[in-house]
Amino acid sequence: MASDVATGASMGDLLAALRAVAEPTRLRLLVLCARGELTVSELAQILGQSQPRVSRHLKLLCEAGLLDRFREGSWVFYRLSAGSAAGALSRHLVAACGEADETIALDLQRLATIKRQRADQAAAYFRENAAQWHRIRSLYVDEREVEAALTEIFAAAQPQDLLDIGTGTGRIIEILGSRVVHALGIDQSREMLAVARVNLERAGLGNSIVRLGDMYQLPLGDASFDAVVIHQVLHYADRPAAAIAEAARVLRPGGVLVVVDFAPHALEYLRDEHAHRRLGFSDDDVAEWFGAAGLEPAPPSRLPGDPLTVVIWTARREHEEAERRAARQRLAEVVNMPVEEFSPR
Ligand SMILES: C[S@@+](CC[C@H](N)C(=O)[O-])C[C@H]1O[C@@H](n2cnc3c(N)ncnc32)[C@H](O)[C@@H]1O
Repeated sequence: MASDVATGASMGDLLAALRAVAEPTRLRLLVLCARGELTVSELAQILGQSQPRVSRHLKLLCEAGLLDRFREGSWVFYRLSAGSAAGALSRHLVAACGEADETIALDLQRLATIKRQRADQAAAYFRENAAQWHRIRSLYVDEREVEAALTEIFAAAQPQDLLDIGTGTGRIIEILGSRVVHALGIDQSREMLAVARVNLERAGLGNSIVRLGDMYQLPLGDASFDAVVIHQVLHYADRPAAAIAEAARVLRPGGVLVVVDFAPHALEYLRDEHAHRRLGFSDDDVAEWFGAAGLEPAPPSRLPGDPLTVVIWTARREHEEAERRAARQRLAEVVNMPVEEFSPR
């Protein structure tokens, strides 16, 4: 780490970061943000200071590159900056700042109380919805069978960066997070993300974060993950092909997409009572969506249950040359010409 700081920052940036942190409240903020993602109101509560005052301190720490801020709806979270040289410096400072100091010890006690409150709120939300989910789970195979199959896929693929679309309570990351370097869960529900945060923190998965986002418009760059999972989410989609295309966009060439959902079924009440839009998916439909998104499908695997069968569809994003060949093939089919005679400009 020392070398990160030595090689990564200019002297000017380093001095600016040191100046920003050379103040008691700002050092306390750094120590707190090293222990999780916190909002201004939580930080103000812990420090016993007004929100505008705390916001000013946070702004200075962000400008100096020591903290990152991100918005989730009307909430703004703060965490130690990842990757930057100033972020490496902040980790050094936090490590050097012992917990024995009276002020820091009190801050950490208050932080523990806030985390407990958060966990209680999340558990209450989960309890309200759990009965529903439990009823649906009883219609198909034991989740553990699906989880074992996913673990096997990941053991073979050995990805570094995992994206879990529609992460819900973060269960998929809980299972697979320790097998990857970074994991990110995206969900459109703030309540679900609150539950996921508590679960991931409890599981000690410091490499995993969750963010608010829509599966049709992921707030992520192209080719940024080498594994993407969409587990029990696609049946809510009104545009499943678009969701798969969006997942493919963020996959690196050679990366793997795993979709887990139901085979076609006739349980209409899942629509009426549980907001499912689609009553399962056929292999042909999924293979077509994979193909249209530039993905090479593997044979699906099925886990029969009563009455619902779970299917695991996997596909790889083709390497660039293969993608170009496949695009030529698709165009040649459209103009009804043998691919070897077809050379688009
Ligand atoms: C049945 S839960 C599955 C959660 C998780 N994948 C699992 O298997 O434990 C479906 C999740 O998909 C999320 N979801 C539905 N539509 C979404 C969308 N358009 N964008 C992001 N998340 C969505 C819901 O908020 C919910 O958390």
